[in-house]
Amino acid sequence: MVRLIGALVGAGFILVLLVSVISGASAYITEPPQETVEHRFHLHPEKMGLQSDGPFGTFDRAQLQRGFQVYKEVCSACHSLSLVAFRDLKDLGYSEPEVKAIANQWAIEVPDVNPDTGEAATRKAIPSDKFPHPYANEVAARAANNNALPPDLSLITKAREGGADYVHALLTGYRNADTYKNEKGEAVPAENRPGQGLHFNPYFANLNLAMPQPITADGQVTYADGTPATVDQMSRDVSAFLVWTAEPKLENRHRTGFAVLIFLLFATALAYMSYRNIWADKKH
Ligand code: HEC
Repeated sequence: MVRLIGALVGAGFILVLLVSVISGASAYITEPPQETVEHRFHLHPEKMGLQSDGPFGTFDRAQLQRGFQVYKEVCSACHSLSLVAFRDLKDLGYSEPEVKAIANQWAIEVPDVNPDTGEAATRKAIPSDKFPHPYANEVAARAANNNALPPDLSLITKAREGGADYVHALLTGYRNADTYKNEKGEAVPAENRPGQGLHFNPYFANLNLAMPQPITADGQVTYADGTPATVDQMSRDVSAFLVWTAEPKLENRHRTGFAVLIFLLFATALAYMSYRNIWADKKH
């Protein structure tokens, strides 16, 4: 009797489970999620093809230096880079005196304490300092940016789907919402056009963001290596630089991965040969 009840309960349970799985699956199949306006207008970033891409990628140091220049002259007015110290720039090929000079001449000073009075003060940056924040705190940052917070850029290429390709697409993707048409030729509905202090950009998930187009004109920075500073080039270079800030040891990882693969291949060959050797005189 007890067994019978147990079996019935078990069978009932399995039945309920089956029904719910099947009905859930059919609901999923028959009712595709409602397509929102954001979906219809959102664009996915195109691949840029950086030298650091792929399992054997390395950094293009000249490009990283140009990208750093763009960060310094354009983005650093609003965005912090709080995980990177000035001395890390040596990795980009800057010499010790050059790094000292960059820190010393940085437009924003580092918070400090006056040793005589104990009052808050600021001082010039030194190589061991992290890049100083452009705003005193979040309240000040939001107040200056239409209540939006410019995110710290140290890890942004890891934090966003598409990484550097997304950053490049975002920087070059500002459009005029009044004249923009998606690939089906549809105009942007009035309620999705940018409100006060917002800017239309189909690469941004909800289409309107608080960052005004930061790189607007060719020649906005003057590159020391003579590379023509087009809007696209500057956007590529700063995106490449932000790959480095997010993973400065990327080349080590790629090198180690390659060495490990070679070692594993070698170890596999050895294991196979010893297997053949051990079983050599045994009949099959
Ligand atoms: C005038 C200030 C300002 C400048 C200059 C500026 N930004 Fe921004 N940025 C913002 C603000 C504000 C946001 C937040 C936007 C939002 O959430 O609506 C933002 C957001 C971003 C984001 C994140 C977008 C996302 O997906 O959330 C990236 C990436 C970015 N900025 C990169 C840059 C780069 C690279 C530069 C330099 C070329 C730059 N910004 C220059 C103000 C600025």
